[in-house]
Amino acid sequence: MIQEARQRANAANEPHRARIVDTKRKLRAQITDMPARFASITRSVESQIEEIVQERAQGIQPVPDFDFDQLNRVTEEQKHKIRQRGCLVIRNVFEDQRVVDWNQQLDEYLTNNNYLEKLSSSGAVDNYFSTLASDKPQIYGVYWSRPQMEARTNPAMAAVKRFLNRLWRINSPDGLVFDPDHDLLYADRVRFRRAGDVSLGLSPHVDAGSIERWIDPAYSGKVYRHVFGGDLTQYDPFEAWGRTEIAEIPSPAVCRMFRTFQGWTALTPQGPNDGTLQLLPVANAMVWMLLRALQDDVPDDELCGAAACRAMIVVKDYHDLLLRGYGSIPQVEPGDTVFWHPDVLHGVEDEHRGTDYSSVMYIAPVPDCAKNRVYAKLQQTAFEAGLSAPDFAADDFEVDFDGRFTKQDLSALGLRQMGYSD
Ligand SMILES: [Fe+2]
Repeated sequence: MIQEARQRANAANEPHRARIVDTKRKLRAQITDMPARFASITRSVESQIEEIVQERAQGIQPVPDFDFDQLNRVTEEQKHKIRQRGCLVIRNVFEDQRVVDWNQQLDEYLTNNNYLEKLSSSGAVDNYFSTLASDKPQIYGVYWSRPQMEARTNPAMAAVKRFLNRLWRINSPDGLVFDPDHDLLYADRVRFRRAGDVSLGLSPHVDAGSIERWIDPAYSGKVYRHVFGGDLTQYDPFEAWGRTEIAEIPSPAVCRMFRTFQGWTALTPQGPNDGTLQLLPVANAMVWMLLRALQDDVPDDELCGAAACRAMIVVKDYHDLLLRGYGSIPQVEPGDTVFWHPDVLHGVEDEHRGTDYSSVMYIAPVPDCAKNRVYAKLQQTAFEAGLSAPDFAADDFEVDFDGRFTKQDLSALGLRQMGYSD
């Protein structure tokens, strides 16, 4: 396993090799207390994982869980837990019947417009996940259906996004990093996973950058400045400074917006063994991964399997500790939502052993800021023409789809979220 991961990473990292070597040398030189520092984050992650393992053994779900109606009453203590776990479930954001209707409408949209025939004749391949052990996600590349746009621009979803954005510390030496109360919109895809499917699984990974987390100056000098020097206890995964300044290495399927959380809305009931989401509910586990790659047993030009232009993966030989705390999210029902911090390790169960479709719409909070406004402009052009969203493979299946959502259909909130008005 380690050899295979090493070869793939080395090939992908070849254009960045000198920068990786140079960055590792600098970071190792500036961290003067490495053994103590690494021991301290190892203890922190180990004790959190131990607690999570015990909770699961007692039937307690480690993922914080709230009803939409409770959002205004979440206590500071509960927010602390959400920030520590880096993930949460918010239930009943949408009523059951509305979601059943959306699911039906999505099915009709795809069927009536011959999506599958177009897909099979296009030969389109998305290789972002090709370093993962179990790839070929059954994810549908449609962006502009009526159900997707209605869910994204719904006032209840806007309230959820405000709550999530406000979990972040937005003050910085450069002023406010983003506007937590006004979210833009990131057009993402849908997942329809058939019962019995074994092809959709995604191995544990992290999005929002792989080798960038070490070599990008906004990551190493701002976001992780307390990790790579100074006082590690000052590090806060929810401090926003620098997060909107990351220059991702260009690649066909990396998110160019800053998402305060990744997330999805359930279209069908799904839980453990239904081919659903798995994650490690430890927000600062990334710190451990960052420092792990700077230990003496890792070659100077390697970052424990992290590869440019790919999801950042977990390599068992290096990251075994983290896998002990990795597990499935609780059962969710249609209209429930799940969100996880951009540093949180996650994936999709290899096998769907349930009896029904396990389906979701990917909807994530993308607060208003300069970085996200740049992408919103590109997205407007795609939206108006029915092209694939700019971050994704240019299949452009929906150009002539009947029933596509158009600019005329946008509410005032929708117009603002798409960046058409302030
Ligand atoms: Fe992911």
